[in-house]
Amino acid sequence: MTNTWSPETMLAQALGEIEAEYGGVVPTIHPATTFIRAPDNTYPTGVAYSRDDNPTGAPAERLIARLEGAEKALLFASGMAAAVAVFESLPVGTHVVAPKVMYWGLRKWLLDRTAAGRLRVDFADLHLAGEAEAAVRAGETKLLWLETPANPLWHVTDIQAMAAVAKAAGAALAVDSTAATPLLTRPLDLGADVVMHSATKYLNGHSDVMAGALAFRETGAIFDAIKTVRHDGGAILGPFEAWLLLRGMRTLHLRVDAACRGAMAVAERFANDPRVSNVLYPGLAAHPGHAVARRQMRGGFGGMLSIRVKAGESAAIAAAANVRIWKRATSLGGVESLIEHRASIEGAGSPAPGDLLRLSVGIESPDDLIADLDRALG
Ligand SMILES: Cc1ncc(COP(=O)(O)O)c(C=O)c1O
Repeated sequence: MTNTWSPETMLAQALGEIEAEYGGVVPTIHPATTFIRAPDNTYPTGVAYSRDDNPTGAPAERLIARLEGAEKALLFASGMAAAVAVFESLPVGTHVVAPKVMYWGLRKWLLDRTAAGRLRVDFADLHLAGEAEAAVRAGETKLLWLETPANPLWHVTDIQAMAAVAKAAGAALAVDSTAATPLLTRPLDLGADVVMHSATKYLNGHSDVMAGALAFRETGAIFDAIKTVRHDGGAILGPFEAWLLLRGMRTLHLRVDAACRGAMAVAERFANDPRVSNVLYPGLAAHPGHAVARRQMRGGFGGMLSIRVKAGESAAIAAAANVRIWKRATSLGGVESLIEHRASIEGAGSPAPGDLLRLSVGIESPDDLIADLDRALG
């Protein structure tokens, strides 16, 4: 029945699944870590231990898989745990290509793993034509990783083009689609093999759950290897977080829609403001990635943008100090709008200029957000 459902209906009803024992319209939390073995030595429900598979996480995994057009999805204890599982599934010394501008925590982890000899990672400007082709080594590169739109400059990378490059080289393509959410972009439709989400962000949406997800085009060698990493490394999401995640996801479409509209309003308001030298938002026609974003994002350009303060770093930090509605905090994708001086958190090697403030637009009134930022900029 759900085959004809739109994403909005799938989300609102969490695929319409009804709890079996009492007919509850929300699922039960299963806190059990261990499950009974039958006298014939089998596990009749297929579940033995909650590090293998967690029954409370299964409905959210089914929903994410359906939203992404995936055969299967897996939940992890955080976005980093999900991303790391992809790389840890690769043999020692594997050559990987990743973007120069990406979530800084993962970039740092990849640099550390490269220094330790675990992986060989080349970083390239994958959003620029020809750069991926130059970085990928046919027959040697096993994974092309990208993030779009990418933190914190919001570069947009052409997923379809990257899928062609990966395929020609014999590599898999994995996409960190956290900022796009499954509603705005479906990377698997564009040729990706794996989609990653920090579910801590939009999927949960309330800044109260740490979670990660991977969605797989198909179950096969890649899926099996990554599921083994999740199992052996104990990176599965706990039942209480999984339950909260599903509850948050039921309003994903409403929140993403509000965030997209708010971000566009903020971007347009400050695009020509004399105190701002640049607004980085894929929804603006002047953004270098706008044409690709129009092609691969549907229904909006996301809730994330950055602004560069003309008077420089100290003026940017002062503006962040002066806000009253925006909250000065890291992370993104929650109902409350966040502002962050990105260079302060990313530290040395960050591609974020000192004058850059990253904005995660929540679901408040865009007029209030604009007025607050206008006042804070002085
Ligand atoms: C784009 C992106 N990917 C991955 C992560 C890591 O996710 P988590 O903090 O849930 O481990 C983040 C966190 O900020 C992120 O913004």
